[in-house]
Amino acid sequence: MRVGIIGAGNMGTAFARRLGSTSHDVVIASRDPDDARNVAATVGARVRAVPQRQLAESADLLILAVPYPHQADALRESGPVEGKTVIDIANPGTPDMSALAIGHTTSAAEEVARAASGAKIVKAFNTIFAQVLGERPPAAGAPRVQVFYAGDDAAAKGAVGSLIESMGFEAVDAGPLTNARYLEPLGMLNIYFGYAAKMGTDIAPAVRKVSPQTTEVRADQVARPAGQPGALPDGMRAPGRPRARLRSRMRSPHSRLSGGSRLTQRV
Ligand SMILES: NC(=O)c1ccc[n+]([C@@H]2O[C@H](COP(=O)([O-])OP(=O)(O)OC[C@H]3O[C@@H](n4cnc5c(N)ncnc54)[C@H](OP(=O)(O)O)[C@@H]3O)[C@@H](O)[C@H]2O)c1
Repeated sequence: MRVGIIGAGNMGTAFARRLGSTSHDVVIASRDPDDARNVAATVGARVRAVPQRQLAESADLLILAVPYPHQADALRESGPVEGKTVIDIANPGTPDMSALAIGHTTSAAEEVARAASGAKIVKAFNTIFAQVLGERPPAAGAPRVQVFYAGDDAAAKGAVGSLIESMGFEAVDAGPLTNARYLEPLGMLNIYFGYAAKMGTDIAPAVRKVSPQTTEVRADQVARPAGQPGALPDGMRAPGRPRARLRSRMRSPHSRLSGGSRLTQRV
């Protein structure tokens, strides 16, 4: 795959390093061409620096590794992106990163999609610190870090899922692009854990099955009205609204709900 990286900061460098160990054809650009050249020189021969205006024509898939306020400009300055798959990795925080600057009714990913109409936007990697991204892929059979990805275009999602797996991560389909409204707060929680809670930046969130009896619901089974975050499938209720029979069991002092698994099965 021909992969183009926009931005030569923490994430751009880490992408170049990780992708440089794959068989992909990787190009990188930044607004200061010297920054891109330095990254390419540091990570090895598989990564080439190109002028930013030539980036889109040099790649089938672009990774937008710039801060949220610069995303629209950076895409515009990268050449025609019509028909290209673009990965948005941003956590759209306030300048001091103490809170999200946008959310609830939109997300960075949806704003990029609006700004770059014709491009196929996929949200991914925003829950992965540069430190984790820049590490060597794990040995075969070792546990892999999960990368959540969300988007509306099936082919673009397929390409991004393949890219994620080719980098040694586990690709986790997180549904439609509007689910970026969930992924971006998760990215901020990851930042909280890494910095404020002092866990360090060698961490990543993961979703795990906790019981073999839990009902599995795949993202592609989740229907949603256009423009809305993922709606729950038939038979599922929103968390906090247990069905009547379960409510009465929960009230009963003799209720013997067996840990989390019973609840998980019934929601
Ligand atoms: N750092 C992390 O661990 C992490 C983790 C997950 C997600 N993210 C997200 O990843 C994105 C990048 O973060 P970062 O830490 O890599 O930021 P960073 O170190 O500040 O790097 C940003 C890069 O983008 C370049 N840039 C800015 N505007 C541009 C434009 N118009 N055209 C081309 N290049 C432009 C910058 O160039 P200049 O140096 O010239 O400004 C710089 O090379 C952000 O959206 C962030 O939320 C970061």
